Amino acid sequence: MRVAAPLIAPSILSADFAALRDEMARAQGADWFHVDVMDAHFVPNLTLGLPVVQSLLKATETPIDCHLMIEDPDRWAIGYAEAGAYNVTVHVEAATDPIKIAKDLRAAGAKAGLSIKPGTPLEPYVETLKHYDTLLVMSVEPGFGGQSFIADVLPKVREARRLVDTGHLNLVVEIDGGINDDTIEQAAEAGVDCFVAGSAVYGAADPSRAVRALRDKAASARRPSAHHGN
Ligand code: DX5
Ligand code: ZN
Repeated sequence: MRVAAPLIAPSILSADFAALRDEMARAQGADWFHVDVMDAHFVPNLTLGLPVVQSLLKATETPIDCHLMIEDPDRWAIGYAEAGAYNVTVHVEAATDPIKIAKDLRAAGAKAGLSIKPGTPLEPYVETLKHYDTLLVMSVEPGFGGQSFIADVLPKVREARRLVDTGHLNLVVEIDGGINDDTIEQAAEAGVDCFVAGSAVYGAADPSRAVRALRDKAASARRPSAHHGN
């Protein structure tokens, strides 16, 4: 599939954690809210878990995109789907049986997402990705907001775009890390559908305006699909 317009998913990692309801309201116009779950084991940082996600789900109508940077997602991911998250993304580096995870997530009513770190290749996981709805290409090392964009991951985005446009995969191509006014165009040009942005949205004086500006930039940088126009 190819989304009609670029999706912008503000990462609440860069928001005020004491005021998350208000912070989501400040980013009006967001397509999804990206929620970074970190366990201090898979990544060297600790953020929030299922109870906070359950509260966020009650506080917004906007779809919640959970990015699980945790060990043993085989055990923990399902809870986020059952809670009502729109999309639940696990890391392929942490998953034992990613196909079973995808099936379980979908059976619980969520979209299934698979993420690859900057150094993880795409090619070994193409068959696995047939079971997934989103591919999250990390463009920073997972763990912290505010890092610099790693452009070396763009060949993986181009390859994923090609696999989707030729019908080999049917998923949303998402990118996460260092997306801002200066980097979003190259990611859009490479074929990204959904852009996570933390510091670029919540570091702005007007997060809602930042969301619109990012979407506009992505839309104008995007190339028409070579194979179909939807
Ligand atoms: C990093 C997280 C990102 C982070 C992005 O591990 O997965 O979602 O919030 O933040 P920025 O957009 O500031 O790079
Ligand atoms: Zn993330």
